[in-house]
Amino acid sequence: MGKALIDTLKGQGPDRMPVWFMRQAGRYLPEYRALRAKAGGFLDLCYSPEMATEVTLQPIRRFGFDAAILFSDILVIPHALGLDLSFAEGEGPLLEKADTRERVERLSASRVESFLQPVIETVSILSRELPRDVALIGFCGAPWTVASYMVAGRGTPDQAPIREMSYRDPELLDRIIDILVEASAKYLKAQLRAGAECVQIFDTWAGVVADGWFERWVIGPTKRIVDAVRIDFPDAIIIGFPKGCSEKAGIYASGTGVNAVGLDWTAGLGDLGDEFSAVSQGNLDPLVLLAGGKALDDGVDRILGEARPGRHVFNLGHGILQQTPIAHVEQVLRRLGR
Ligand code: CP3
Repeated sequence: MGKALIDTLKGQGPDRMPVWFMRQAGRYLPEYRALRAKAGGFLDLCYSPEMATEVTLQPIRRFGFDAAILFSDILVIPHALGLDLSFAEGEGPLLEKADTRERVERLSASRVESFLQPVIETVSILSRELPRDVALIGFCGAPWTVASYMVAGRGTPDQAPIREMSYRDPELLDRIIDILVEASAKYLKAQLRAGAECVQIFDTWAGVVADGWFERWVIGPTKRIVDAVRIDFPDAIIIGFPKGCSEKAGIYASGTGVNAVGLDWTAGLGDLGDEFSAVSQGNLDPLVLLAGGKALDDGVDRILGEARPGRHVFNLGHGILQQTPIAHVEQVLRRLGR
């Protein structure tokens, strides 16, 4: 018997459904807040192998999840490409923009591996230190989502700036995406080499792509990363998370070649359809985890009832919210029989 998460992602899971939560390390944990205060900034945590390892392990110690996800951020890639990045307290990320041809041509994928060496070092340490039955997940952002921050400089309600660029100057956006495909594939391969047992590609803003453009901006770029990773790692296990368009999970899975698709909370496991052959993950609304009570028990039961045996990974439909009570996470784990 292998690890529950890995077996499930291969479509051969045990009876016991594996569980981990997106953003399981973070501000809802007092031990995270304490270390974050000591570290100074969020990026100092990300680039310190010692502290990033500690933060990754915190939720494993407390809850005994089946997987640990590397503590880092999707925006370290544009940072490594040469764009200034900062996280102001309570404001989210601020990224130097790459929104003109001149600025885009200054980006360089050549430093990605050396710049991100501390993150890769974190992966190596984790792969040695994690308990034997806990799987290690690496990750990157999908090109469309990372590009949306590079064009807007920050998160906006519907990432209008990248959508405008996609119509005004699609060739410029292609150029940004080409650079991100190359850098992200290198980065994921370095994580796999260092001991990550699977990787997740976060496409948080896939849901704002206009009808008719999903293939070009979401499926195509993701497939190029999947294919590039599998040249060196033919059996690489890859989870895709196209948030905001779970109803497209089927075409996303067949178009990209990922092993598993993360679902947000808008499309149920029962909606997947018989032609959906990938593994599924997620679907519990982070707000029901925040709310707790009977609604939370019902939400867990619904997933347990609808999931395909051995082919679903219990998770949220997006990251855990900062105000989430720890007791609610414990309630879910009890309900799962853990
Ligand atoms: O535990 C984990 O899931 C691993 C760590 C992780 C973080 N960010 C830590 C983080 C992962 C996998 C991410 C991915 C990420 N980062 C995404 C994709 C997933 C998603 O949530 O949609 C995106 C869009 C980002 C960019 C980003 N980073 C934003 C928009 C923000 C601000 C929002 C917020 O929650 O503050 C961040 C900051 C961030 N990334 C924090 C953490 C723990 C909070 C920083 C802090 O401690 O102040």
